[in-house]
Amino acid sequence: MSSDPETVVITESGDDAASVAQEDKPYLEFQHVSKSFGEKHVLRDVSWSVRAGETICILGRSGVGKSVALQSIMGFLKPDAGRIWVAYEDITDYGEKDMERIRKKVTMVFQSGALFDSLTVGENVAFPLRERGGLEEAQIFQIVDGLLEMVGVGHMRDLLPAELSTGMRRSVAIARALSAEPECILYDEPTTMVDPMMAHLLGDLIQKLKYQLKLTSVVVTHDMTLAKKLADRVIFLHEGRVVFSGTPKEMENSKEEIVQEFLELDSTDFSSFGKAELRRHQPGDAAL
Ligand SMILES: Nc1ncnc2c1ncn2[C@@H]1O[C@H](COP(=O)(O)OP(=O)(O)O)[C@@H](O)[C@H]1O
Ligand SMILES: [Mg+2]
Repeated sequence: MSSDPETVVITESGDDAASVAQEDKPYLEFQHVSKSFGEKHVLRDVSWSVRAGETICILGRSGVGKSVALQSIMGFLKPDAGRIWVAYEDITDYGEKDMERIRKKVTMVFQSGALFDSLTVGENVAFPLRERGGLEEAQIFQIVDGLLEMVGVGHMRDLLPAELSTGMRRSVAIARALSAEPECILYDEPTTMVDPMMAHLLGDLIQKLKYQLKLTSVVVTHDMTLAKKLADRVIFLHEGRVVFSGTPKEMENSKEEIVQEFLELDSTDFSSFGKAELRRHQPGDAAL
């Protein structure tokens, strides 16, 4: 565990030469990571990396360890073996104090949204700004309004999370993540449990953030449509291992049997359910 955060920054990238060298390193990296819970081997010698500004999608069936991977990046879970690098630092052995510093750079949008139920939408988004301190109320107000506008829920500032649909809560959670001005955002299943229209809007939003803010992003999903839209590269997990890594197009052409099976299942699900749902909802529908 290191002492003062400043010291770490200086030793890691204290001069221009070191900063230049950093550009060659991945922003985030799993090096031979393994993780088990009791007898259950979730991740087995998994290696992958993300460069700054890149968007990768981690694909794989339910229970394959996608959320475990994200929680390991956030330091909520520790690997049994291997190293994890986040924001150019080896965080494997970091304690809470160092992880708090890292979590200012890398934030996670949880599947549930994880909003504070008793705070309004606006107060939820203002929370990281208040925690950081140094801003006038008027400034906070302005930033919050701008962020809510950006994620498409500008008119909902004074509502409580319970009054919002799952998809809208997720948009608010994204706005709250952005208010911390992160370098990198991790999204856990952003389009799960929302209807296809909202899934489409959330996909557009994540894409907009990718291009406008140049955020490094890791999107965990089993939604191939989303992966095709967003991913510079996809990583496909199966039985604890990376069985494919490449562009979405390369994935579609992959000869790997399990990858093909996944793609077939995905397209079946979407055509039978998605189109009917899309017909039922119109833009601006309160249920979205
Ligand atoms: N904190 C935990 N304790 C015990 N088992 C866990 C824990 N977190 C996840 N698991 C198990 O690890 C496996 C992978 O989980 P998860 O990463 O949530 O899958 P998914 O790919 O669907 O996100 C599951 O079998 C799950 O039950
Ligand atoms: Mg999960």
